[in-house]
Amino acid sequence: MNMTDALVVYYSRTGWTKKVAKEIAHRLAAETEEIADTAQRGGITGWLRSGREAVRKATTTLEPPKRDPDVYDLVVIGTPVWTKTVSTPVRTYLQQHADRLAKVAFFCTCGGGEPAHTFTDMQELCGQPPKKTLCLKTRNVRRDDYEAPVESFVSALLEESDLDMD
Ligand SMILES: Cc1cc2nc3c(=O)[nH]c(=O)nc-3n(C[C@H](O)[C@H](O)[C@H](O)COP(=O)(O)O)c2cc1C
Repeated sequence: MNMTDALVVYYSRTGWTKKVAKEIAHRLAAETEEIADTAQRGGITGWLRSGREAVRKATTTLEPPKRDPDVYDLVVIGTPVWTKTVSTPVRTYLQQHADRLAKVAFFCTCGGGEPAHTFTDMQELCGQPPKKTLCLKTRNVRRDDYEAPVESFVSALLEESDLDMD
């Protein structure tokens, strides 16, 4: 894989997943696509709405993506965990674009718990297993205490792509 053949696609309601996405993209020399949702998700009303939608596995209306995912060898997809699973905007993106993704890897940020169903739901939506996964706790992202796990995630992805070229 050339260093530019990766795309990091992410949704972030309050900025933590975005912070990790930027770091992964920087280390992979990848391009980024921030998923833009048209739904109002601010404040307590937006929090409640988001929780309800995640439980129902609902979808939302997204702005059209700026980048074409099928031109990349690897698409790294990042989501906050919502009610133990993938956020509604990322669920929607995967439903719309799963058939255009070559290799995939997943990461998430979460408040306290484990990613629970997040990665299995993403795998089901993508129709393929991820090359690697990474889950970070919000408090560690806030404290900038996430360099080692991000480094190991990115190294594994780069090694994997080297092996594929042999
Ligand atoms: C609607 C909603 C549901 C959430 N559910 C969970 C959960 O089930 N488990 C968890 O550990 N964190 C949960 N969180 C916390 C977020 O995953 C966490 O704060 C994440 O880092 C936010 O990322 P963001 O800033 O990129 O939006 C939830 C947050 C929201 C808004």
